Amino acid sequence: MQKPSALSELCRKFIGTGLITAEGDEHKRLRKDSSPAFSFRRVKDLYPVFWDVSAQFTAGVAQQLAKKEASPVVEINHWANLATTDIIGMAAMGKDFGSLKQGQDHPLIANFEEITNPSTEKVIYFALNILGLSQIVRLLPWRMNKLADTISTNLYSICSKLVSQKQTELASAKPNTHNDILSHLITTTTLSHQQLVDQFLTILSAGHGTTSVTFTWLTYLLAQNPEIQKRLRSEIHQHVPSPNEPVNGDDLASILQSLPLLNGVCNETLRLYPAINIIYRNTVRSTLLVGNVIAAGVQVILSPWAINRDKRFWGTDAEEFRPQRWIDVDAETGAEKPNNSGGAESNYANLTFLHGPRSCIGHSFAVAELRCLVAMFVGRFEFEMADPDEVVIP
Ligand code: HEM
Repeated sequence: MQKPSALSELCRKFIGTGLITAEGDEHKRLRKDSSPAFSFRRVKDLYPVFWDVSAQFTAGVAQQLAKKEASPVVEINHWANLATTDIIGMAAMGKDFGSLKQGQDHPLIANFEEITNPSTEKVIYFALNILGLSQIVRLLPWRMNKLADTISTNLYSICSKLVSQKQTELASAKPNTHNDILSHLITTTTLSHQQLVDQFLTILSAGHGTTSVTFTWLTYLLAQNPEIQKRLRSEIHQHVPSPNEPVNGDDLASILQSLPLLNGVCNETLRLYPAINIIYRNTVRSTLLVGNVIAAGVQVILSPWAINRDKRFWGTDAEEFRPQRWIDVDAETGAEKPNNSGGAESNYANLTFLHGPRSCIGHSFAVAELRCLVAMFVGRFEFEMADPDEVVIP
């Protein structure tokens, strides 16, 4: 299976040929080069970064709430976006993008947002391109063509400068002093400048909005389930060091990984609200899918949303928010510990991060980041929906 070529072509315009858009041997090579940067060990080393930015995030929200004229209503997705941007800046290139401090997006993210924030015009532009009509679209006197060109040039030029800066810094740095993903790629692979820029853009685009939207859904679910919110806060207060206490990255990782309800809430949100809810593929040769012969060149749509909520895999309460399904209870002692299956028999019942050679390379990164953001935020604030009657439509 491969991604439909029109979709890849459109993505390539903005993020070049990186892990998301490459196919075949090129993808295999990039994946092999990049995987060590996302290993469990490296993600563990990033916990202090996740923790530090999470503390800035809650401090920023607290400051907004403390302003006399401010209403106690916070647009949580905006703050979550700033936090995940700063995390990806530090983790991907060791650079503080300063979004939380300035309360606004870094120019790179502002450009991504400009092209991805939904409007009817953009939806039509993307739909026509994905349908393979890019040649015709380009001929139209349409401001979307100009906007897309400007954004693509901006993204490339900002990233290219950042990559060049990093290359210069590394040339005179002592070994092992730069722990970020880009430094890893520069020092351990033979990727060209252009390939490094593409990889960097890919990681930024894949790695910030996905986690922030998951965090936002998680706060929504906890606002709907105040009892679970309260129990989670008590678990956090009991076991997690306060933000002012110094904590070593390995200890923090071990504590957060072991908390049953924290992991249950994160996993259950990831199951119910997968950030990528539809995935498109084309068959490259004829194949068998669940016993059906599928010819070459047929488009297949995978829906993590549908699979993750399927009653055949998750039981009759599949649509319900039940963090408990991710917790094992010892029959004798009553002790609780997190499990990784949610009680489903097959790994494939959960497609949030996909599986196989095109699965999310940032899976452990995202879960670690989410644990830190949630522990810090829920530990500090009690929250509810600004409008309890709002009907939230994903
Ligand atoms: C909750 C957060 C996240 C979710 C739900 C998620 C989900 C996914 C999914 C479903 C794919 C497969 C897409 C496809 O093939 O069509 C994917 C790919 C990818 N993700 Fe994530 N992701 C998340 C966070 C991250 C983070 C934090 C990073 C990087 C720091 C990242 C980097 C990538 C990359 C580079 C790919 C392409 C992998 C390849 O094709 O080899 N993701 N992600």
